[in-house]
Amino acid sequence: MPDTPPNGPRHVAIIMDGNGRWATLRGRPRLFGHHAGARRVREIVEACPDLGVRYLTVFAFSTENWKRTQTEVAGLMKLFRRYIEREAKALLTAGVRVRFIGDRIRLDERLVRMMDDLELMTSGNDGLHLTIAINYGGRDEVTRAAKRLAYEIEAGRLTHKDVDAETLARFLDTRFLPDPDLVIRTSGEARISNFLLWQSAYAEYEFVDTLWPDFTAAEFGRVVAGYRARDRRFGAVRA
Ligand code: FPP
Repeated sequence: MPDTPPNGPRHVAIIMDGNGRWATLRGRPRLFGHHAGARRVREIVEACPDLGVRYLTVFAFSTENWKRTQTEVAGLMKLFRRYIEREAKALLTAGVRVRFIGDRIRLDERLVRMMDDLELMTSGNDGLHLTIAINYGGRDEVTRAAKRLAYEIEAGRLTHKDVDAETLARFLDTRFLPDPDLVIRTSGEARISNFLLWQSAYAEYEFVDTLWPDFTAAEFGRVVAGYRARDRRFGAVRA
């Protein structure tokens, strides 16, 4: 795939919000919106290469989403399984490398097996790096990383002197990813909802009013173009 242009963004992360409202507006159950949302994922994935986006991370299910009704949670889990089943072949042939972040401990075994298989199956790909966050929460991720780090110290493999930002980052779910350059949230909500808290320290944010099932590749392209016009200084003064 083409290289990212010098003014990026190389890594885009998306909070795909608004599926429920989109369905309610149509008098349909919330899951109808999630299904429409899944179709948009495909379109946005396909748009990435031409925009020079090499890494795309999408927030599919948060550690807080378990609070939804049992019907919605079960429907979403089924949708994730169906997505993997239906998209695996196309992702593989398109050169997409898929990985999942989040705590797998609470997910059903069948889904975890499918996630593992898709990761393995696409592990040789080096096109778009697609990361799907399921049962993911930024605080939970940092807590799990700190726990693993503490374990390494207890086991004598590290000491407290080794603990710095770089070492901690090696224990995060995202250890294989660069930090996101741009975080997009759809549906008009201006919150980050526990998404990539550590990794987004210097990210640019874009909040768009469009509900996720209506977020087209054309709008994605406009948001990316808007990012390119921004002046990122990472705390420094412009040269
Ligand atoms: C937020 O909208 C969306 C979710 C919690 C689920 C996201 C899932 C998908 C887009 C579909 C599947 C994704 C993949 C990668 C297969 P909401 O339900 O909070 O909407 P609302 O704020 O309008 O209620």
